[in-house]
Amino acid sequence: MNLYFAPLEGVTDVNFRNIHAHIFHTPLSCADKYFAPFLALTQDHTIHDRDRRALQIENNPGITVVPQMLTNDPHAFLGGSRELFGMGYREVNLNLGCPSGTVVGKKRGAGFLTEHDDLERFFDTVFADALFADGNIKLSVKTRLGMFSPDEFPDILDIYNKYPISELILHPRVRKEMYKGDVHTDMTIYAMTHSKHPLCANGDLFTVEDVRILLGTLPKSPASLMFGRGAVSNPNLFSEVRQMLAGEPVTPLSIEQLGAFTEALYEDTKTRLSGERHMLFRQKELWAYWIVLFADAEPFRKRLRKASTLTEFRSITDTLLRTGSLLPGAGFAGNAKMNTPIS
Ligand SMILES: Cc1cc2nc3c(=O)[nH]c(=O)nc-3n(C[C@H](O)[C@H](O)[C@H](O)COP(=O)(O)O)c2cc1C
Repeated sequence: MNLYFAPLEGVTDVNFRNIHAHIFHTPLSCADKYFAPFLALTQDHTIHDRDRRALQIENNPGITVVPQMLTNDPHAFLGGSRELFGMGYREVNLNLGCPSGTVVGKKRGAGFLTEHDDLERFFDTVFADALFADGNIKLSVKTRLGMFSPDEFPDILDIYNKYPISELILHPRVRKEMYKGDVHTDMTIYAMTHSKHPLCANGDLFTVEDVRILLGTLPKSPASLMFGRGAVSNPNLFSEVRQMLAGEPVTPLSIEQLGAFTEALYEDTKTRLSGERHMLFRQKELWAYWIVLFADAEPFRKRLRKASTLTEFRSITDTLLRTGSLLPGAGFAGNAKMNTPIS
């Protein structure tokens, strides 16, 4: 089973994925693919310079990256795909899940899911182009169930089934659910039994136990699993899941591994961002994912939230990493309060 790192815009950028791949670099611990956060295309259907730099193969050494585009314009998608093909990419991903108001308002991301005729026209145009028709490059889709109700999904899946999509990645929520509430696992089962394409299951897989429960519920194994918030929180999750799948004892994330990961991301924060306020904000955002892994973390969480300088923040995280201990089996959902950023 393939294990993928989900795209998280503003979190899993080029530096983040390189740092993850550098520290968790073994076949056991790495992600099989890193899906890059979505790119918007220019008016001329090209990729912005900053995104191009982030996606250059030499800036992502030794890892498989899948670029993702957020558009409802097949010509823009083709323009971007052609450029990405020229850069060496052999798979591109279409974002049909982004729930943000501005995106949905423009009928992109999850907003495109209500426009069935346009969606068919989009795929007709893209798959008629030699780039895709000749199999030069694969198109995978990352989708939600619909905008308002899971009942929308069967019709949407019927559309996907008409086209040679390489893999269907399903985040089984509707747009209005954003990232909260229970996922609709019954619809993952529906997709498994009705999709003509290999299925990648995504959504709320935060721990080995979550994966075990999902796999016990599904009628057969999906082709792939995708981990987002859970893998940001526990960067060792790929290794733990592979061990579980192989029936081996699971070696949990060590505090040393977490320290190396958090430290590398701190150094990255320092070199890339200017201004203490920005750096502090980025660190607070990241530590919101990690604090849940610690036993007796509540007092630390409060102090981290209140910290007003980077030095103060760092002295708290240093203490945590030196004297704290990790909760066995903890993950992103281990503490519901985790959903509130600590900033
Ligand atoms: C902060 C944030 C940013 C995200 N950015 C993207 C994105 O750029 N493209 C995308 O397809 N999904 C994006 N997602 C959705 C995730 O890829 C994933 O589908 C979702 O978090 C559910 O998986 P998880 O429960 O494992 O986190 C984002 C989610 C979050 C929380």
